[in-house]
Amino acid sequence: MIRFLEKENIFKIDTVTTSYIIGIADGKYPGHAYYGRRLPDDDVSYLMRINEAPFVPSKNGRDKLSFLDCFPMEYPVHGIGDFREDCIAVRNRDGYSGLELLYDGYEITNDKPHLDGLPQTFASDTGESETLKLYLKDEILGLKVTLLYTVFEDSDAVVRSVIMDNESSDPIYITKALSACIDMDNKDFELMTLNGSWARERHIQRNPVGIGFAGVSSVRGETSHQHHPFLGLLSKGADDDHGEVYGMHFIYSGNFKGLVYRGQFDNVRMMMGINDEDFTWKLEPGNSFMTPEAVTVYSGSGIGKMTRTYHDLYRNHLIRSPYKDKKRPILINNWEATYFDFNTDKLLDIARESSKLGIEMLVMDDGWFGNRYDDNRALGDWFVNEEKIKGGLKYLVDEVNKLGMKFGIWFEPEMISPDSDLYREHPDWAIAIPGRTAGLCRNQYVLDITRDEIRDYIVERVCDILSSANIEYVKWDMNRQLADLGSKNLPFDRMGELSHRYTLAVYDMQERILERFPDILLENCSGGGARFDPGMLYYSPQIWCSDDTDAIERLKIQEGTALLYPLSTMGAHVSVCPNHTVGRNTPFETRGYVALAGTFGYELDVTKLSDEDKAMIPGQCKMYHKYRDLVTMGDYYRIASYSGNGYFDAYMTVSKDRKEALLTFVQVMNRPNVHSRIIRLKGLDPDEKYLIKKFNMETGEDEVYLSYMEKPLSGETLMSGGIVIENLWGDNRGLLLHIVKA
Ligand code: GLA
Repeated sequence: MIRFLEKENIFKIDTVTTSYIIGIADGKYPGHAYYGRRLPDDDVSYLMRINEAPFVPSKNGRDKLSFLDCFPMEYPVHGIGDFREDCIAVRNRDGYSGLELLYDGYEITNDKPHLDGLPQTFASDTGESETLKLYLKDEILGLKVTLLYTVFEDSDAVVRSVIMDNESSDPIYITKALSACIDMDNKDFELMTLNGSWARERHIQRNPVGIGFAGVSSVRGETSHQHHPFLGLLSKGADDDHGEVYGMHFIYSGNFKGLVYRGQFDNVRMMMGINDEDFTWKLEPGNSFMTPEAVTVYSGSGIGKMTRTYHDLYRNHLIRSPYKDKKRPILINNWEATYFDFNTDKLLDIARESSKLGIEMLVMDDGWFGNRYDDNRALGDWFVNEEKIKGGLKYLVDEVNKLGMKFGIWFEPEMISPDSDLYREHPDWAIAIPGRTAGLCRNQYVLDITRDEIRDYIVERVCDILSSANIEYVKWDMNRQLADLGSKNLPFDRMGELSHRYTLAVYDMQERILERFPDILLENCSGGGARFDPGMLYYSPQIWCSDDTDAIERLKIQEGTALLYPLSTMGAHVSVCPNHTVGRNTPFETRGYVALAGTFGYELDVTKLSDEDKAMIPGQCKMYHKYRDLVTMGDYYRIASYSGNGYFDAYMTVSKDRKEALLTFVQVMNRPNVHSRIIRLKGLDPDEKYLIKKFNMETGEDEVYLSYMEKPLSGETLMSGGIVIENLWGDNRGLLLHIVKA
């Protein structure tokens, strides 16, 4: 519910359990008054401290800069005396960069405004959402800035973005345009971020917030393996169930910046938006610029509640795919099975064997097109290589379909290899700075898809392949970062638009392909998980989490990913051992349990598996079908973290009606002379009674585990007393417990 409380002169944005309150100081300056637990309708503008020294400018004009230097700004501006990090900066025709955005009215609507060309949250019905539009203006520049705040009736999130309108008669160059800022007092905050590298994405990191700057960013043209567009400010010592948490997550897939600045008065500014490095946007008179959305979530009861708020918001208001709530087919991908060394016969061998075991879709990965015998060539040549795919693509797909399986295919549409027919024909299609030899990465260049003719060509090629056979899934990959930023399309004063235009072009291509093939199940991917971001979720209901398929490494990657993303979105597969990335051996059973926390599938040559491992696949497929809804639609609770304790991992999903739950337990390290351990369950109904069984992967059935579990126990007992789990013999051992209302 959003209201302007006239008497109190505040904007009050109430979600289910939180309030976000904006005040207007001096009738001009929008300030941040409060964000936290839901409040009654009191006048809390005093929290902005405008009645204390240094006072607002109308009372103390001689010291306006002192006011600007400490006032909790809702949307800080550049160049007029707020010396902390700002959200917006411009350059006018004459080169001046200062601006002052003053309050110019508001509107409250019961909808969710559409942001052209951007991924975004949505409401299914009118009345399901409300939006506050706070109008700000710089009269001298002729720049109107609208701050948007949307809330949904079923969510605790506040979704923010900013629209900039040039109402002057000259171009305005926007050199910085962040999406959200929260300016508040420090509460001994710790900063939680997700960081990593290739094969090691989204590991959780926590650090105290010291004086100065801290944060995350990307200038790689994609969200990146290295950092994630998320900031979490946690009150000191906050854990999954206790403490205050402020989350800020960015619905965008390009260069971003998430920054925390702790200043001289022990206030903290938390901000998120498009990275201003190398960014300029020329805003012509009469034109608008819209920033992507940032989603803020406050939880007064720990990290877990923030997590569940993001999960529900993304499930209900971001993922559009018709597959959102549908069971995804259990797939087998041939990448780790064959790499580039495959042909029709090999793929059909894999499909034949897979279909007998319960696997439902074959995905043909990289290497099926042009002269693609290794990763040094042929990107851009999206024509079937009939030397490998003998009989053509349609024949292969038909044969796979005859086995009762679906068929999926891999593309890397944004790329061009120097050794490709496409490059030989159009050497100027790659992003490059004229006169410089652009740097290679995996021996490939990036296509300048900001140019319409290039984007059209690639969309046509992809659509042509998709309409040539019954293809039901696409893996959209992106295997290098952007550098040598130069586009033949852009004049010198628009070159700073390239990175953002590139990201918009990716969205446009996916949108167009999905319009043509609305039933395609799209999975985004980028060298593993470098484009795992909320932006991509708007187009694909699942994203490949990481090229690291090792179950134990995946515990950390999936824990970090599940901090924000529903499990239904996490691409996770069972692969062979020794694992191709780390050489670790893990029981086949455990690999199945860990992949169950995601979309579930296989990434191995099933024809080469030992009989013992192969015999477990039907049970694993049964497990997936049995628990899929619980895993992907339930509430997620973190019980223990292997990345924190170095010993074991445990998490639960609980059905929304709390009648059923699943506990996954993985004991990574065995310890001598340990008999058992107590695990306290979460999320159950304290007044209900539950029975607990263990899933048996060999039979695919639930069975009695420990004798005390044969008697119903109350949710209260299971959550406060806990359950006893016996020590598992060996390392990397897993257990799946099914908890059902008695
Ligand atoms: C990336 C992907 C892999 C695979 C290869 C193919 O690394 O993450 O899953 O598709 O590309 O080249």
